[in-house]
Amino acid sequence: MGILFSAPQVEYDIIREEWLETVAQIGRQGVFVGGTWVSKFESAFASRLGVSEAIGVGNGTDALFLALKALGIGPGDEVITAANTFVATVSAIHHTGAAPVLVDCNDEYLMELDAVRAAVTSRTKAVIPVHLYGQVIDLDDWKAWSEATGIAMIEDCAQAAGASRSGQAAGSWGVMGCFSFYPDKNLGALGDGGAIVSNSPELAARLKKLRNHGGELRYQHDLPGFNSRLDPLQASALHCKLAYLDEWNAHRRQAAGWYRSHLADIAELTLPGHVEPDDTSHVFHLYVVRVGGGRREELKKHLQKKGILTAVQYPVPVHLLPAYAHLGYGLGSFPQAERYAGEILSLPMHAALQEQDVVSIGSEIKSFFAAAKVT
Ligand SMILES: Cc1ncc(COP(=O)(O)O)c(C=O)c1O
Repeated sequence: MGILFSAPQVEYDIIREEWLETVAQIGRQGVFVGGTWVSKFESAFASRLGVSEAIGVGNGTDALFLALKALGIGPGDEVITAANTFVATVSAIHHTGAAPVLVDCNDEYLMELDAVRAAVTSRTKAVIPVHLYGQVIDLDDWKAWSEATGIAMIEDCAQAAGASRSGQAAGSWGVMGCFSFYPDKNLGALGDGGAIVSNSPELAARLKKLRNHGGELRYQHDLPGFNSRLDPLQASALHCKLAYLDEWNAHRRQAAGWYRSHLADIAELTLPGHVEPDDTSHVFHLYVVRVGGGRREELKKHLQKKGILTAVQYPVPVHLLPAYAHLGYGLGSFPQAERYAGEILSLPMHAALQEQDVVSIGSEIKSFFAAAKVT
């Protein structure tokens, strides 16, 4: 057997009995949309993040889209985000009718406030910092800047559930924080799911309407809304998994420590920075290295042959995707994002990864580069 890239099936095994009991309960109640499990998970998630509101929605893309809609963002507006994010951050902006404005990343793959400031125009209404790979951007200065300029900050926390910096959870710095519960996220449902968190009861009230055809009560439609609800079977699975989130995130950090010790002497790799085991500002949703010498694809294939699954998040920056050619960027617009897209490789990372797996991965990578030196 090889080494899994992510392990939602292992997580499922852990919660299976408890979850099946909730499924039976939901079945007996006959409430398959909304209901007590959705509100139970929403309250538990809000309290875990230290915010007053959590609103379950259909997926992480909708969370971002509905957050922008709740602020009234639309045609004529601009929203700034990262060139090296998953495409969904940008498609959520696009579908509001606003124009996505992209910025480059630093060498930890994160957006910087200076780059955001330089991209602001009179049309800028919001910025979406992306906590990519599970790293929380230090948003202290961003928050002050957002309050001073009136440019709303919505955090994309799709990859950073349970992460925090200085005791403050990812998702609680901006006016809203948006989460994806896609199954292999570090808090993953058993299908699609998402949530928006906030400390604003007004925004929460609007979001509850927007996700449900524009009204909270049946046939009362106060706003033109959408249909994007977290379903109770997903909510109860998430409720079961939430109890393990901190333990699983800590395991991921420990695994990152193993990678650091077993890959440290491979000169061709650039590893993520060191993170202390109790430093919750990184939850290692992904463990991303850079492969030098233009050998990423070869290494990826070599590992695959050995049963070690890897991925590239993401091989093409958003500004170079055909879907967003109309934004008018081109090759050279975001040099860091472009360079890293050709070098990054996500190694296996999940709550069941063992040190022996990391040792095997390390020795396969070493033999790959050693063979290259001989030939
Ligand atoms: C950074 C980022 N933003 C947004 C999303 C969209 O989430 P979803 O797939 O749940 O729509 C994802 C995950 O897929 C993501 O990784």
